[in-house]
Amino acid sequence: MSERDTQVQGLFNRITASYDRINGLMTLGHHARWCREVAARAGVPPRGRLLDIATGTGEIALAARRREPRAEIVGVDFSEKMLEEARTKPGAKSITWEFADAHSLRFEDASFDAVTHGYLLRNVSDVPRVLAEQARVLKPGGRVVVLETAPPRGVLRLAVSAGMGVVLPLLGRLVAGDRDAYSYLKDSTLGFVPPERVAELVREAGFEDVGYERKYLGTNVILWGRKPAATN
Ligand SMILES: C[S@@+](CC[C@H](N)C(=O)[O-])C[C@H]1O[C@@H](n2cnc3c(N)ncnc32)[C@H](O)[C@@H]1O
Repeated sequence: MSERDTQVQGLFNRITASYDRINGLMTLGHHARWCREVAARAGVPPRGRLLDIATGTGEIALAARRREPRAEIVGVDFSEKMLEEARTKPGAKSITWEFADAHSLRFEDASFDAVTHGYLLRNVSDVPRVLAEQARVLKPGGRVVVLETAPPRGVLRLAVSAGMGVVLPLLGRLVAGDRDAYSYLKDSTLGFVPPERVAELVREAGFEDVGYERKYLGTNVILWGRKPAATN
């Protein structure tokens, strides 16, 4: 793992206890709805297999479970603390939770019907490699669905950037007692590439039918793509 990945891992291990609360406050409760939308767009078949990477406290995986009671759902993350928290949630027992670094997954080629992730890409050191891993483990025709933050743009850019610059570190200090961790989350959001570039990277990883929808004044985005069906 790169030094940056190790730092990110340490940060998420530190903020686990406050993560859900701050996430809910920052998105004014929208995060839960976006997780349901990601799960719906993944369209995993009733007995299919879904992999949720960077599962964190497990919200996307659990939303997928509520939609598809008989699907096999695997949630992976490289923060053991986040995984511990995910395991305590209602419904968590029917999901497999595992340690994994998104740059190098242990799963076989073409073994999942859908791959989802929330707020992974802006945290990793090698986005093309992470997307290539996802393309590898997906079955032909399988879907990837991504929830990510997006840097604010247009007339709202200055106001949203300034708001995040104040609110995130403040919430970090008051709720988590960890101003630095939430300053990192603010910087990584404002410094991340816009959705059109993420969509390009998803296409470059071999996906087709790539699209996205901005959310919440354009500060969040849900992106999707499909691994091409096998040709004979
Ligand atoms: C902001 S949290 C998002 C959690 C969840 N997906 C959600 O939507 O609430 C980001 C998660 O990505 C995980 N993560 C970051 N880089 C990772 C990597 N290289 N491999 C696996 N997990 C990673 C962190 O440990 C953390 O749990």
